[in-house]
Amino acid sequence: MSAPEVELSGVRRSFGATQALRGVSLAVRRGEVYGLVGPDGAGKTTAIRMLAGLLRPDEGHARVLGEDPSHPSSPVREQLGLVPQRNSLYGDLSVDENLRFFARLFGLSRADFATRRERLLSITRLERFTERRADALSGGMYKKLALACALLHRPRVLLLDEPTNGVDPVSRRELWELLYGLVHEGMTLVVSTPYMDEAARCHRVGLLYAGEVIAEGAPRELARAHGVAPGNFEAVFLELIRGRAA
Ligand SMILES: Nc1ncnc2c1ncn2[C@@H]1O[C@H](COP(=O)(O)OP(=O)(O)OP(=O)(O)O)[C@@H](O)[C@H]1O
Ligand SMILES: [Mg+2]
Repeated sequence: MSAPEVELSGVRRSFGATQALRGVSLAVRRGEVYGLVGPDGAGKTTAIRMLAGLLRPDEGHARVLGEDPSHPSSPVREQLGLVPQRNSLYGDLSVDENLRFFARLFGLSRADFATRRERLLSITRLERFTERRADALSGGMYKKLALACALLHRPRVLLLDEPTNGVDPVSRRELWELLYGLVHEGMTLVVSTPYMDEAARCHRVGLLYAGEVIAEGAPRELARAHGVAPGNFEAVFLELIRGRAA
């Protein structure tokens, strides 16, 4: 089997007295959609930021394409795309201006930007809204623009922190179709979500609870192992948590 493209190994990280991650290990292979599923405060954002190289572990290590993403000169940074949980765009700038800003940040040439802009506006269906300020976009359109900005430089690994939070069910479905399209092209995705029903959309999930992965596997297998209907993650989660409290 090929080496994992994304990896956390025995990662611990505290903020003061709060242990945000308490020994998390996971490995994601090329073309996989891995879901980090857990309630508020479980450690999802901390794990994503670590994979993006924005935070260092106190213990253990993060690897993306075999490299340490937190290393300032790591070439792997160019291979990484990040859709942060919130406020990742400039609210006062228009859709087009945000795209142009991030393109400059990534060092895209004018010609490359023109090609990417057209393609990304088309797949996100934002063509008709290029002049609209980011702050004036709906929740779903804002997330699509954040996704478009994260894809400008053609990353091979995409990290998405709660990409469908605050997004209506129709836009949510559209966003997932978009994500599957990217995976089809060979991208590797790590997606965090607090929504248990969304877990079923991932190839594999890690259920994150209080800084630990308390179960991992394909959604159907996890449901079967816990004797619940496929996709009923709430039941799996509640049973696991009850098991720990007992
Ligand atoms: N910079 C920080 N300073 C202090 N505490 C932090 C910091 N970042 C995270 N924490 C704490 O670490 C724990 C995990 O936080 P994290 O943001 O990773 O959770 P999450 O699963 O993303 O939650 P949410 O669904 O609310 O986004 C929480 O208790 C949080 O308060
Ligand atoms: Mg979070």
